[in-house]
Amino acid sequence: MIICQGVPRFHDVGRDSRLRWSGRRAAKRILELGTAIGYSGTWLARALADGGELITVEHSTDTAAIARRNFEKTGVAPKVTLLVGHAQTLLRDLKGPFDLIFNDIDKAGYPEVLDPCIERLRVGGLLLTDNVLWKGDVARRDKSQETAAIRTYNERLAKDPRMIASIVPLRDGVSIALKVRE
Ligand SMILES: C[S@@+](CC[C@H](N)C(=O)[O-])C[C@H]1O[C@@H](n2cnc3c(N)ncnc32)[C@H](O)[C@@H]1O
Repeated sequence: MIICQGVPRFHDVGRDSRLRWSGRRAAKRILELGTAIGYSGTWLARALADGGELITVEHSTDTAAIARRNFEKTGVAPKVTLLVGHAQTLLRDLKGPFDLIFNDIDKAGYPEVLDPCIERLRVGGLLLTDNVLWKGDVARRDKSQETAAIRTYNERLAKDPRMIASIVPLRDGVSIALKVRE
């Protein structure tokens, strides 16, 4: 299913020329929010175009130190800039445009980073977000802060006229959103 300006539609993503086109261009600039130990960051860095860069943000100093070591071990360190601090704060000084942004911070922080992420994405760029189904709780009566924040994030993203968003029911739910206009 794809959600375009708030309207859900069943959709063959593979045949959408805009999605196909965006998938063909290797990313030169990737931003990741939520580095943890650098697992997804390593894969993102490996997928960069030649000369590309990954900027990744982690608020725990200890975890960031482990990620730095892992980026060295996996050989991607020269392509990676690891910023230590809160994504919400660091985003203010991060200049776009990015080809791809991967959002994977604490779920309560999702709504606050949505607009800054969209603003820093190029038209044709992708915003990927993890855990958007939250074990199915987004569709239940669960009222936790995290669930409410993910619901808000998903709804705002679905209604944003700059984006075409689709939720892929892969594990905990990944949303893939394409920026189609400024
Ligand atoms: C789910 S883990 C990230 C996993 C990683 N992206 C991966 O797939 O390998 C979330 C990480 O984001 C960090 N984090 C959570 N909220 C954050 C925030 N507001 N700003 C920066 N880092 C944050 C946490 O310390 C944690 O290491």
